[in-house]
Amino acid sequence: MDLHDFDDVAENYDLYLEEMYKDVDNHAGFLDFYLDFAKEYGKDGVIDIACGTGAVLLYLAKHGIFADGTDLSEAMCRVAKEKANKEGFNLKIFPANMTDFRSNKKYSCAIIARSGFMHLLNPELQRAALLNIRENLVDGGMLTFNTFDPNPIFQAEQMESKDTDYEFRLEYTNKEGKREKIYNAISYDPHTQIMSGNWKFETLDANGAVIEERIRPLKMRQTYRQEMLYLLEMTGYEIVNVYGGYNKESADRPAKNVIWCVRKK
Ligand SMILES: C[S@@+](CC[C@H](N)C(=O)[O-])C[C@H]1O[C@@H](n2cnc3c(N)ncnc32)[C@H](O)[C@@H]1O
Repeated sequence: MDLHDFDDVAENYDLYLEEMYKDVDNHAGFLDFYLDFAKEYGKDGVIDIACGTGAVLLYLAKHGIFADGTDLSEAMCRVAKEKANKEGFNLKIFPANMTDFRSNKKYSCAIIARSGFMHLLNPELQRAALLNIRENLVDGGMLTFNTFDPNPIFQAEQMESKDTDYEFRLEYTNKEGKREKIYNAISYDPHTQIMSGNWKFETLDANGAVIEERIRPLKMRQTYRQEMLYLLEMTGYEIVNVYGGYNKESADRPAKNVIWCVRKK
């Protein structure tokens, strides 16, 4: 199974994501942050990059902003397109890598929501994506994306843990109406700054016995703020705002979720 095989999880993604983010404080204001951003900067078009199953795309469309969407995973694009069609929105959603996609137009606003940028696993890919997105923006166009501030305490713990040290994350009901338990095990490599996670899905029968098990690896790269500042400078962006959360909290202190808002120079 490929590391970034979101194809495999596409059909159930919305169902378990809803459960996962139910009680996550730093997620408050998630959708409205992107709606405000698109309203403020999207007069010449919005693109949602790594759009997944279209959480942001659909929210924007329901508020009158018809953004294009793109994602590496064909299955995520298909699910997003089906959801949009069902709601009566004819959106352009196409599979592509953020490092080299092209559209038939340039945009004044680009969004990478919910840690899509962290799926780029080395500085070369990060640079390629930022340069490519810049090519897809009009002059002065805006990009927003998020990163997690690396936390040395978690890093130290994760450096000690193996990719089989599973912890229970949540239980949800899958698309076929079956209960599934999700566990994950995350380890951290300080040399590459990559968090390697294994996500284990257990499907249960009516008595709670495990009838199927799937393990899906997922890697994300942590990026230090100082690295990001150099990367943005090198790829032709200026910083407009950096927030410590979706409600525009200050980013003066280390933040779990750092929201970058940058302009094409
Ligand atoms: C955590 S999901 C977020 C999806 C969506 N933005 C949301 O808010 O629900 C990350 C997405 O990034 C996509 N992705 C990973 N690497 C990518 C790349 N290089 N180019 C485009 N999309 C990518 C995955 O397929 C996945 O759908």
